[in-house]
Amino acid sequence: MSHRFIEAQQRERIVTEVFPRADDACLQVANEIAALIRNRSAEGKMAVLGLATGSTPVRLYRQLIRMHREEGLSFRNVITFNLDEYYGLPRTHPESYWQFMHKQLFDHIDIPAENVNIPDGMVPRAEVFAWCKGYEDRIRAVGGLDFQILGIGRTGHIGFNEPGSTRESRTRLVTLDSLTRRDAARDFLGDANVPRFAITMGVGTILDARSIVLLAWGEGKASVIAQAVEMPPSDSLPASFLQGHAKVRFMIDQAAASALTRMRHPWLVGAVEWTPFRTRQAVVWLSQKLQKPVLKLLDEDYSEHGMSDLLVEQGPAYGLNIRIFNELQHTISGWPGGKPNADDAQRPERANPFPKRVVIFSPEPSHDVLGMGGTIRRLVEQGHDVTVVYQTSGNLAVPDDEAEMAADLISELSGVFERQEGATGRFARDVRTQLESKTAFEGDSPQIRRLKGLLRRGEARASLQTCGVGKERIRFMDLAFYERGRYRQFNPDDADLASVTGILKDLAPHQIFATGDRDDPSSVTAVCFDLVRRACAALRGEPWFRDCRVWLYRGVETPWGAAEIDMAVPISPRELAQKTQAIFYHKSQRSQTPVDTGLRESWQQAEQHNRGLAAAYDGLGLANYEAIEAFQRWSV
Ligand code: F6R
Repeated sequence: MSHRFIEAQQRERIVTEVFPRADDACLQVANEIAALIRNRSAEGKMAVLGLATGSTPVRLYRQLIRMHREEGLSFRNVITFNLDEYYGLPRTHPESYWQFMHKQLFDHIDIPAENVNIPDGMVPRAEVFAWCKGYEDRIRAVGGLDFQILGIGRTGHIGFNEPGSTRESRTRLVTLDSLTRRDAARDFLGDANVPRFAITMGVGTILDARSIVLLAWGEGKASVIAQAVEMPPSDSLPASFLQGHAKVRFMIDQAAASALTRMRHPWLVGAVEWTPFRTRQAVVWLSQKLQKPVLKLLDEDYSEHGMSDLLVEQGPAYGLNIRIFNELQHTISGWPGGKPNADDAQRPERANPFPKRVVIFSPEPSHDVLGMGGTIRRLVEQGHDVTVVYQTSGNLAVPDDEAEMAADLISELSGVFERQEGATGRFARDVRTQLESKTAFEGDSPQIRRLKGLLRRGEARASLQTCGVGKERIRFMDLAFYERGRYRQFNPDDADLASVTGILKDLAPHQIFATGDRDDPSSVTAVCFDLVRRACAALRGEPWFRDCRVWLYRGVETPWGAAEIDMAVPISPRELAQKTQAIFYHKSQRSQTPVDTGLRESWQQAEQHNRGLAAAYDGLGLANYEAIEAFQRWSV
């Protein structure tokens, strides 16, 4: 370990390993688990694993299954204890952790059923205390947990130990935090259906494990990871109690690490290699911290904030300020497809060819307009040949009542126009019957999904029309991984990749817009982006591809900071209003929650991000726009 490496991590109170991708971390953890199992087996002993559910460990479990199938890893000498279970859900419930563990792991390996321990969500209330004590006794009876896998919730929970849980807490019945319940709302088809209670191992139970690994992916976890790793331990963030454990590691991806001091402000924790990006990041940070425009930063501002070495290398402040100011200024362009017949030496996008063939990949309908509605309109108005490609149908996100209304409308229409019931009428009637007989949390039939997908198509067409994109310029891919999958558990295959590659070959674009790779890898956006990434890698050799630029946009997730942007497209007040209108057309996606919960609608979030970025540019001393949409250049 180099001196610089240790220095950069001096604020970190937990060993934190950052991996380029979630799969890299999962492979390493799977290898460690496999080694433990094999060593124990060689000694004729059992290996005792503590397991988690949720999106995070899914890829780890896939690795373990692969090792079982391909490398002969046997789980016959393994005993498992799961962290938690929703209280009140029977094993048969599709969202129970019992179901999850069996579908994601146990059904595919040779673990004996009697070695699997999962808290029982149906224990009568009066018996819960004794049951929980029994769970602890069982763990102790097999010699304690050898290896505990954890995820982390956005509240900082481990297991379901929500804020307020003490370091000494043991297995017990707990109340779920409202943020945790909101995060689970999509799985349970609405906030109201999410259980209020759960049985969870305690923080103390977890800390008794001999070795602990916490996994986290995606920028949604970045803030809570930084707090758990860098702040003093406190019961307001239970994961921080892991700091006291002798053998704990956080194994996280780049996006989940992005709020650690060593990533955000490395100059505060040691020597830094002043790459162009680091320099820009530091100057923007300083300007924002001191609330001073870039051009007004002084030498002493730099040296008083841990950046005197930057001044030595690239100072004095005056010249450095001007250089970074110009760099930032050059990111601004009202010509996202390049400005024809203009000198493009300092512009983010090249002037030629003109017009450009532009492909905008949208993982689901609405990501496109949320992330770049204003820019789509500009591209069209400036004469480019824009095609929007919806990778998935988005039908999983349509509430049943929307489908009911549509089925009724079709039924009635077919009654008006058809003397005898035809195929359309029958379809609508079937959908209606299926919706009526659907039990709570049951997945949708292919027919219901079809109708819901069609609804989203209609919304997408109407939305894009307001941006000037006609329906002949829209492609609906309906990728198969989505149609056969459920949230958190998508598994794309070669056919999905071939479809994305095929569409790119067909359209041979000069510009591609796609969402980035900072989301949880199990999310629809991340799966869709990964397909684009792999398709681009496969097409790298094609002549047209060498003349193609890829731009990344953000939906309503955490927006990029000003230092991370390569192209900033100003949006006028009128364009912002038009963008909001385009988002409104995605009617089925409006929040189902009553307005008084304080939850913001996605159009409000998009507007806030776009205005916020404009304010950030203004604060840096650039220009004062109403709103800005931001893009990052991506090198394939
Ligand atoms: C699940 C568990 C929870 C999750 C956490 C993160 O058994 O104990 O602590 O690990 O809520 O959930 P995901 O992985 O879905 O983001």
